[in-house]
Amino acid sequence: MGINVLSLFDGMSGGQLALERAGIAVDKYYASEIKPHSMQTTQKNYPDTIQLGDVTLLKDNRLKELKSIDLLIGGSPCTNLTITVCNNYDHNQGLKGEESKLFFEYIRIKNLLNPKYFLLENVASMTDENKNIITDLLGVEPVFIDSNVFSAQDRGRYYWTNIPLDLLPENKGIVLKDIMETDADEKYYYKKGFKFNGWDKKVIATLEINSHDIGKRVYNPNMRCGTLTAINGGYHEKKVYDNERCRKLTPIEYERLQTVPDGYTEGVSDTKRRSMLGDGWTIDVIAYLFKNIEQ
Ligand SMILES: C[S@@+](CC[C@H](N)C(=O)[O-])C[C@H]1O[C@@H](n2cnc3c(N)ncnc32)[C@H](O)[C@@H]1O
Repeated sequence: MGINVLSLFDGMSGGQLALERAGIAVDKYYASEIKPHSMQTTQKNYPDTIQLGDVTLLKDNRLKELKSIDLLIGGSPCTNLTITVCNNYDHNQGLKGEESKLFFEYIRIKNLLNPKYFLLENVASMTDENKNIITDLLGVEPVFIDSNVFSAQDRGRYYWTNIPLDLLPENKGIVLKDIMETDADEKYYYKKGFKFNGWDKKVIATLEINSHDIGKRVYNPNMRCGTLTAINGGYHEKKVYDNERCRKLTPIEYERLQTVPDGYTEGVSDTKRRSMLGDGWTIDVIAYLFKNIEQ
């Protein structure tokens, strides 16, 4: 027997990967997600997942029919909270925003089901006002963790949980070249010109393309990558300097930056793979948070 889990905003089910990595046995895993390619990826890897669909359509009486929930998890949409779109008025609505207000569904369901354990994740770049609202409603202070403790990606996130935590392990000092594929396909390389900024720079080169600043950044293989995001396609993919040329990171490199097993997201387009991974959890961080769950 294992625990019963309800995962809201389940994405590609990073929660299940992390439970497995932390050695926590699962009986029922209920997931609420709306993106077909994410659910497809989940079902490919975890066919027993019970998909419940859109969280806003999950009525209280349906939720009460589920087996008693031991662990409620979720990373509610950060679209209106994150700083990368903070200067854009349409996106800058915080927890009142069209997508980020879904956080209140998490609170509704937590209050209804009263699980023994909970975990909520969101971006660390939100305003203090929004952070305080979340903290007040969950009744615990968030823990800040940067994924770079476990991987070659800088990704600062807040985690609100009542699971007892050990001290964070020491930063492993992993850099991009530790996770890069040695034989990346030619299709990932750019034919565009670039400006070389120097081996001492995190952004080692600037690609000469018609794009915003972030899209032009080419990362130094001896350092870490900036935060992966869900926005992909066009020039949005993260880029690396490889043998004096510039190329996109491959979907497998995206997986490795999130400490997801190689090939986990295979089966959908490269753009969708990068997008799911950009939206997803760094599995080693979540496995660390889950370690002390009592079975
Ligand atoms: C930040 S991502 C979470 C990713 C997840 N933690 C993972 O490991 O893949 C937020 C997710 O919420 C999903 N979502 C958005 N609106 C939703 C809704 N109404 N009901 C359920 N899920 C929704 C999005 O499709 C997206 O996958």
